[in-house]
Amino acid sequence: MLIRTRIGVSLDGFVSTRDGRPAVLAMPGFDGGALYGFPEFQQTLGAVVMGRTTFEPALGAPRWPWGDLPVYVLTSHALPSGTPEHVVACTNGPADLVARLRAAKLDGDVHLVGGPLTIQAFLELGALDRLGLLLLPIVLGEGLPFAPHGTAPSAFELESEHRFPDGTLELVYSAAAG
Ligand SMILES: NC(=O)c1ccc[n+]([C@@H]2O[C@H](COP(=O)([O-])OP(=O)(O)OC[C@H]3O[C@@H](n4cnc5c(N)ncnc54)[C@H](OP(=O)(O)O)[C@@H]3O)[C@@H](O)[C@H]2O)c1
Repeated sequence: MLIRTRIGVSLDGFVSTRDGRPAVLAMPGFDGGALYGFPEFQQTLGAVVMGRTTFEPALGAPRWPWGDLPVYVLTSHALPSGTPEHVVACTNGPADLVARLRAAKLDGDVHLVGGPLTIQAFLELGALDRLGLLLLPIVLGEGLPFAPHGTAPSAFELESEHRFPDGTLELVYSAAAG
């Protein structure tokens, strides 16, 4: 079981627009059809993980994005009413969440959906097995950066790359040795 991201990032390093929407929604002509292989990726998963800020908009969305997969939400709060039963609020911090994921007999990998604060917590713990990016051929100019201010420097090795027809690049890295 690998813990992996697959997060859309603009050329200038933003994962969300100024108004907090995921960067992929700013792609010209985006209509929800350009899924960048997401259905195939989802079939490799045993669970998804995200921070509370990323999770909460899903409650009001017309379509639940994660099918029957268990959803783990990193938070210090109880989750809002209306949260489905198979969503687990993880209130004992990121190290406890990582231990739970490693101990669970998951049938597949863990998609660490985001956002940046949650990814940063996993990076600090050395718990991110694959850093996957969808590098979107757009410049946003402002928004939420992939790496929060104060993020410790780190280095990665390229594991794989894939080019989509619209010029989006999927890049998958692992942590560099040493
Ligand atoms: N481009 C993409 O594909 C993509 C994917 C995901 C998200 N996003 C964007 O990312 C943004 C949200 O990201 P974000 O970084 O602001 O928030 P986030 O990581 O989604 O959630 C932050 C919350 O998670 C909990 N948390 C995070 N780190 C923690 C730690 N070390 N210890 C304890 N709790 C922790 C806290 O919840 P409590 O406040 O409850 O304690 C914190 O407020 C949104 O704009 C979203 O659109 C983009």
